[in-house]
Amino acid sequence: MRVIITKDYDEMSKEAARIIAKQIKEKPDSVIGFATGGTPVGTYKELIRMHKEEGLDFSKITTFNLDEYYGLGPDHPQSYHYYMFENLFNHVNVDPKKIHIPDGLAKDVDAFCKEYEEEIKKAGGIDLQILGIGRDGHIAFNEPGSSLASRTRLVALAEETIKDNARFFEKEEDVPRYALSMGVGTILEAKKILLLANGESKADAVAALIEGPVTSQVTASALQLHPDVTVIIDEAAASKLKRKSYYKFVDKMYRMLEEKKSL
Ligand code: PGA
Repeated sequence: MRVIITKDYDEMSKEAARIIAKQIKEKPDSVIGFATGGTPVGTYKELIRMHKEEGLDFSKITTFNLDEYYGLGPDHPQSYHYYMFENLFNHVNVDPKKIHIPDGLAKDVDAFCKEYEEEIKKAGGIDLQILGIGRDGHIAFNEPGSSLASRTRLVALAEETIKDNARFFEKEEDVPRYALSMGVGTILEAKKILLLANGESKADAVAALIEGPVTSQVTASALQLHPDVTVIIDEAAASKLKRKSYYKFVDKMYRMLEEKKSL
């Protein structure tokens, strides 16, 4: 697991956008897994800037989103469909036919979830999956106790997540109680994973992800089993890590090697 500690949110966002842009440039038809939430907004802003100012081309990528609230349609301002179009897709040249986001209004949920997994396979699997992390250590909506082998399915949101996400709704009661979410097993099949976290409120979850035991009580800890994970966190989110200075040292060494390679 590569841990990159940045001084603040802005630097975290730029570093994440740089890695995503590199993936798209190296493989223009990459399959990218996108995440929603407050964390990646700055990353998406930077990707939009790269598209507008530097010509970063999204036209050949295929996208899969991690999750969607169950019961919210694409036009609902709090749906993740709406979020993705507002925060990224409307501002870059992604092909609408290649966008996949779970359907919060799916009638036959089980069939839809199976089909979603099939679509990912048909696209050749996810090349780079972007993730946030919840305060309870969830990735996507895989709340504590989710099987580490779980697949895309209907899940119930944890109390803590409902409270955290209430900030996006008028009142807490409006937060949907269910979601369709890729499973931990689905996420672990991505070829590369990029997890972002900022702020002190994420420090415990980040410490559990990087330094805790692998447990379904912190589904992000399953990422320790994946061979290609990069975690980008700001100083506040890194504040509870025991081996912070070691991670910084390793990151410095990586960067020196990368510089040498590009000479
Ligand atoms: P946030 O959510 O980016 O809004 O903090 C992250 C998550 O719950 O995965």
